[in-house]
Amino acid sequence: MNALDIDVTPPDSRCYPPLAAVGLSPDPFDPIQDRACKLVDLYTLHVAIDLLRELADPALLACGASADDLLTKGGYVAAFRPAMGWLLGRAAAAGLDLSGPLPRTDRAAVRAACLAIAPSFVPAFTLMDEAAALYPRVARGEVNGDRALLMKASLWVAYFDNRNGYYALNNRVVTAAAAARAPAARPARVLEVGAGLGSATEALLKGLPAVERYHVTEPIPFFRRRAERTLRAAYPGVALEFGGLDVNGPWAAQGVRPADHTFVVGVNVFHLARDLVATLREAFEALEPGGWLVVGEAIRPHPEACVGAELPFQILQSYHAVETDPELRPTPGFLTAEGWTEALRRAGFTEIELVPDVVRLRDLWKGAMTAAVCGRRAQV
Ligand SMILES: C[S@@+](CC[C@H](N)C(=O)[O-])C[C@H]1O[C@@H](n2cnc3c(N)ncnc32)[C@H](O)[C@@H]1O
Repeated sequence: MNALDIDVTPPDSRCYPPLAAVGLSPDPFDPIQDRACKLVDLYTLHVAIDLLRELADPALLACGASADDLLTKGGYVAAFRPAMGWLLGRAAAAGLDLSGPLPRTDRAAVRAACLAIAPSFVPAFTLMDEAAALYPRVARGEVNGDRALLMKASLWVAYFDNRNGYYALNNRVVTAAAAARAPAARPARVLEVGAGLGSATEALLKGLPAVERYHVTEPIPFFRRRAERTLRAAYPGVALEFGGLDVNGPWAAQGVRPADHTFVVGVNVFHLARDLVATLREAFEALEPGGWLVVGEAIRPHPEACVGAELPFQILQSYHAVETDPELRPTPGFLTAEGWTEALRRAGFTEIELVPDVVRLRDLWKGAMTAAVCGRRAQV
């Protein structure tokens, strides 16, 4: 089979028993969801080849040039270095031989194959396309990737939404993991960080058995105001609070009550923390004894793996503005299961578990996998 072919491999049925054990089966390996996600991943390969054709000198590519060589030859700005590295990494991960002409691509066919089975995935393709269109302009220093991509409000409103099947999976996994840890005897007090437009908040409010109070935090005022409007209208009976917490600063000084939360949650946020262990330590302090941290994240299968879903974020300087650590996170972006486990351990958490069990599953499913990273502040 050609690496660019739309005949993606179906899930291995041995994936299902470990998922059933945590109440997720067949998610995330529901055959349609699985095929649709693999087609989005394949789309990122087609995009990467198109961008290499546009941005990289073919003679240099053919002789195995590095991202730095391609950057210098193209006269591109230093901020584009991670994106150029990602393009090469995506091609290498697919086993493409760059010594000859680049293969033909057919983005429209991949997109059509995916949308035929999963029409709700449109925002995933829109995001990939919008980001891809910015790559050349970011490379030449004509625009700042953060400003140009993050200002596209309608893009994010459609993308971070439970009606977008590509994104909603993250929220379902986190909700299942949190619901399984909810105390039986009393309603939960929840703190959410980086809540964005409130898609995970909505899933958790629906999925947790009972909620006494929910503190929704998000630093971007546009996202926060919109989330507040939607959530207050949908959940008039829940005690909702809203705030602008930046996870990189001290949390108590930003209105977070110490030792007062049953859950601290965040979906696709914690990997953006500048000093991950310091941020996890703040989350630990916000939890009551016996409380749970539940973090929704895409998990990198191994430290060098190039993850297709990271295509749009490679042009964001904010995505790379984190402290790396050889053991926890040798690169910015997503962490491995081992990286997360070690980070939570260093921050003081016990009963650390990834839901589903990514380590057990990753021989059967080679790509990045969405998971809830869970850890507990021990009872005293
Ligand atoms: C990938 S989005 C996820 C949004 C939301 N959790 C959801 O799943 O719908 C990441 C969110 O993290 C927020 N964020 C980025 N840096 C942050 C920081 N330093 N502190 C808190 N939130 C941050 C962004 O504003 C954005 O809303």
